[in-house]
Amino acid sequence: MSKAIYVQPGGGYDKVIVGSCPAREPAAGEITVRLRANSLNYHDFAVVSGMWGPSEPRIPMADGAGEVIAVGAGVSEFAVGDQVVSTFFPDWLDGEPLVEGFATVPGDGIDGYARETVTARVTSFTRAPKGWSHAEAATLTTAGLTAWRALMVDGALKPGETVLVQGTGGVSIFALQFAKLAGASVIATSSSDDKLERLRGLGADHLINYRSTPEWGQRVLELTDGRGVDHVIEVGGPATLVQSMAATRIGGHIAVIGILTGVAGELPLVTALVRQLRLQGVLVGSRTQQQEMIRAIDANGLRPVIDRHFPLEQICDAFRYQESNRHFGKICLDI
Ligand SMILES: NC(=O)c1ccc[n+]([C@@H]2O[C@H](COP(=O)([O-])OP(=O)(O)OC[C@H]3O[C@@H](n4cnc5c(N)ncnc54)[C@H](OP(=O)(O)O)[C@@H]3O)[C@@H](O)[C@H]2O)c1
Repeated sequence: MSKAIYVQPGGGYDKVIVGSCPAREPAAGEITVRLRANSLNYHDFAVVSGMWGPSEPRIPMADGAGEVIAVGAGVSEFAVGDQVVSTFFPDWLDGEPLVEGFATVPGDGIDGYARETVTARVTSFTRAPKGWSHAEAATLTTAGLTAWRALMVDGALKPGETVLVQGTGGVSIFALQFAKLAGASVIATSSSDDKLERLRGLGADHLINYRSTPEWGQRVLELTDGRGVDHVIEVGGPATLVQSMAATRIGGHIAVIGILTGVAGELPLVTALVRQLRLQGVLVGSRTQQQEMIRAIDANGLRPVIDRHFPLEQICDAFRYQESNRHFGKICLDI
């Protein structure tokens, strides 16, 4: 048996318990991983807090990293001792988006990685970046890959283009880092001047406080000589989409990613139409995209931004901290 966190049906912090799950030998095509870290995402928060609580007892957390401790028959991709990181969609390996929703996603539709060991198909993991800690690797599954896919796959980002990132959560900071890695300019927003200074340290070219400048779309136009940005990493949702559309160049790309301010709101269709905007819904990415992202990380020496670590058992404290929005970048659990 190995230690595991369970969220009881319906979810909520009072429904989170520490228990155990059976450990088993890997069958053909499977590996067993000693998990060492998770990272937190808004989606995991929705499961654990009860916003989208599970219908049956569920081990939460989509993002898990650790080392391979056993391999099943026929497995050539991994060996004992390899450092690995989980995939968000173990069934979407390559090509066009294949999977709708969360029914097959670890930590939501199936058990996730808030536990000491797991035995799973090889497609549930990829190799981790070389030299990264397990906590660093665990930041990639959801936030890292979402930012990568939005910019590099859907956006086909080119050097010299301009990217707008919103706030200082995990997705936006990865997007800032990948955009700089690709030679783009970045305009970053935050509610906090202190956090904006930290974004400058990460390479952001222009900074806007979205609290003191609520009509920040106009400010983005000024910063881009009236043209607008090529790509928006849209994580705010209803409260930010109108400004994002105002900030985007004619024919530009808005990666519709987040719901931080709600799940429904106004969509100015005429603006979308006359400015010929491309609003592209994003749900993380494929296993191949994750491998390509990790190859780019290995080649460029990028490191993720981790704000704070909590022990696995303090998972609810970690989510309360995430709810406070005091964090900058990722929050991790050590297992
Ligand atoms: N579609 C997908 O595949 C996918 C994947 C990952 C995440 N997401 C979604 O993307 C969103 C962000 O995820 P995350 O993990 O990066 O979250 P996170 O780490 O919790 O980000 C929180 C930060 O977002 C910023 N924020 C909050 N309200 C904002 C607003 N009105 N305008 C601009 N920034 C705002 C705040 O930054 P400041 O404190 O600096 O103001 C806050 O600290 C969530 O809704 C999540 O569900 C979607």
